[in-house]
Amino acid sequence: MRSEQAKPVKLSDYRVADPVVKTVHLDIVLHPTATRVIAALDVAPHPQGLPGAPLVFDGDGLTLAAIAIDGRTPAPEAFEATADRLVIHNPPAGPFRLTLETVVDPQANTQLMGLYRSSGTWCTQCEAEGFRRITYFPDRPDVLAVYTTRIEAEKKAAPVLLGNGNLVEAGDLPGGRHYAVWHDPHPKPSYLFALVGGDLAEVSDTFTTRSGRVVKLGIFVEHGKEDRCAYAMDALKRSMRWDEEAFGCEYDLDVFNIVAVSDFNMGAMENKGLNIFNDKYVLALPDTATDQDYAAIEAIIAHEYFHNWTGNRITCRDWFQLCLKEGLTVFRDQEFSGDMRSRAVKRIADVRLLKSHQFAEDAGPLSHPVRPETYHEINNFYTATVYEKGAEIIRALKVLIGPEAFRRGMDLYLARHDGDAATVEDFIACFAEASGRDLTQFFLWYRQSGTPQVAVATRHDPVAGTFTVDLKQTHLPTPGQDVKQPMVIPLAFGLIGPDGAERSLFTEDGKAVPGVIALDAAQKSVTFSGHPTRPVLSINRGFSAPVVLKTDLTAADLGFLARHDGDAYNRWQAIQTLATNHLVTASRKDGTHADGGAEILGEALAAVLADADRDPAFAAQALTLPSESDIARELGADVDPDAVLAARRALRLAVRSRLDTALSDALTR
Ligand code: SER
Ligand code: ZN
Repeated sequence: MRSEQAKPVKLSDYRVADPVVKTVHLDIVLHPTATRVIAALDVAPHPQGLPGAPLVFDGDGLTLAAIAIDGRTPAPEAFEATADRLVIHNPPAGPFRLTLETVVDPQANTQLMGLYRSSGTWCTQCEAEGFRRITYFPDRPDVLAVYTTRIEAEKKAAPVLLGNGNLVEAGDLPGGRHYAVWHDPHPKPSYLFALVGGDLAEVSDTFTTRSGRVVKLGIFVEHGKEDRCAYAMDALKRSMRWDEEAFGCEYDLDVFNIVAVSDFNMGAMENKGLNIFNDKYVLALPDTATDQDYAAIEAIIAHEYFHNWTGNRITCRDWFQLCLKEGLTVFRDQEFSGDMRSRAVKRIADVRLLKSHQFAEDAGPLSHPVRPETYHEINNFYTATVYEKGAEIIRALKVLIGPEAFRRGMDLYLARHDGDAATVEDFIACFAEASGRDLTQFFLWYRQSGTPQVAVATRHDPVAGTFTVDLKQTHLPTPGQDVKQPMVIPLAFGLIGPDGAERSLFTEDGKAVPGVIALDAAQKSVTFSGHPTRPVLSINRGFSAPVVLKTDLTAADLGFLARHDGDAYNRWQAIQTLATNHLVTASRKDGTHADGGAEILGEALAAVLADADRDPAFAAQALTLPSESDIARELGADVDPDAVLAARRALRLAVRSRLDTALSDALTR
């Protein structure tokens, strides 16, 4: 994109913002091809900046129509304005007001960054660097300002005028025109600025926060689509309640608006008080929407809403910290969906997505750390690694320090950094403090790219009554990272006796241990006592760490876990591993293979079916064999698609004949 030839941006080059802008007054007159923007910025040179140094404001494709410093037009040699920057030479020593006028063409804006039109509606997208396409500005996330936005338009073309924050004034103007003034009291970075103008229908509702604030909720859509918003509105209200209960986060404005547009670069955007959505994540027609459509709407409505605290109230110091808001907010929306629906089914779906997208990304030429240290173009870093692996790291942290310390750490982060542009270091420091643990090694999860590999072997000594788990971690080289350090990998686990009961966990010296092994060295062995009979190990429960796991579990062990594991995710994983092992071998042998795997799988699935009433969606997941691409991923380089297809068909047939009556019983129950 644009800055391909530009120098790479480096995390280590971070310097404090200079200039700083504390308040922004925008006066925007909407026009399809010539929208006039007057920006009045209260500018203060940064106290730690160089006195008298020129001030540089970002721009992108802009033309400056007028400029004033404290109300006076500066001499032509006192500034320099090009399409991509404005430089003010010898700026005033103290704070001053900079007034800028630019004219932009929303109709011609096909990048969909900055101010553009979608089906006649004016709307904006400013993350990551779109605000500089509206006016010159220090367009970086650590410049937090209070915005007041006046929007004016022809009333017929845009009866609806929306901005960030609360509506403070509105009225008619001569000539069929009107205006609205929005004020957002919460200082925010420019990437969270938004406005919308258009002829839209509104679906409204209210939500009362736990402290009694009545919030007016609005969803704005094309006329005629009002009946497709009910699910999104319901999901929004549930998100607002859940965030109060699960994280203590209460909404902080009088209104919360969502606008659905049909042209949008991303899924949706968390602009303060004015979320803008790709309409496929808002609209659902009960006659045609699938379960997956509903789940996606619920998750994305929640995600954008949750950004109000993790992203907006606490934002990122620079774009290297993108995972600070995205990884954390994905984690939060995953937890929300887990609470709203079957937790196991949600976890399975998330892990499947992680493996198919993020593991693949991490194994290829685009592999990068969750917090990168250099970029050419920030738009290329909205990746599965930053979002999905970013969320997994937070889940792993919670497993490592335990849910109570995790909640204390979150509370501390939300209290300490409210109003800040923070870093990942700031975030992790809160959990180190809340848990009393040194999280230096944990931080490698943010710096090292690639998917760690963990090999697990077990030994049983019936005479001593001990059961030993031997663990080993390895790290493959990834671009720019040939050698890696051992990480701390929290593996939730349990031991299950032959009777199917979960065993209590004691070390050799009789100490009770929690069900988590922190693998914090290249190799580690842990021995448990009190096991005269061999238990079966269930490890990486709930997919507690985002690793590739190789175990020495036999097909019989996996069949046993599929029937008895108390951890629903691992029950599903056992079935998948059993099926995958069989399918991989069969795919290498022209489609069929008699390893007993099909029979064991049939038994396991029969047990799942017998229990299907408890969580039918889980049973449906368990009954779904690994996909062709899952099998191909396991096969690695040498894939014969015909053999994969034949293997999968043969296994389906074998399972079907085993489950024949059980399947039809389940369907008619
Ligand atoms: N910040 C946006 C989001 O993740 C970009 O997609 O919600
Ligand atoms: Zn997000």
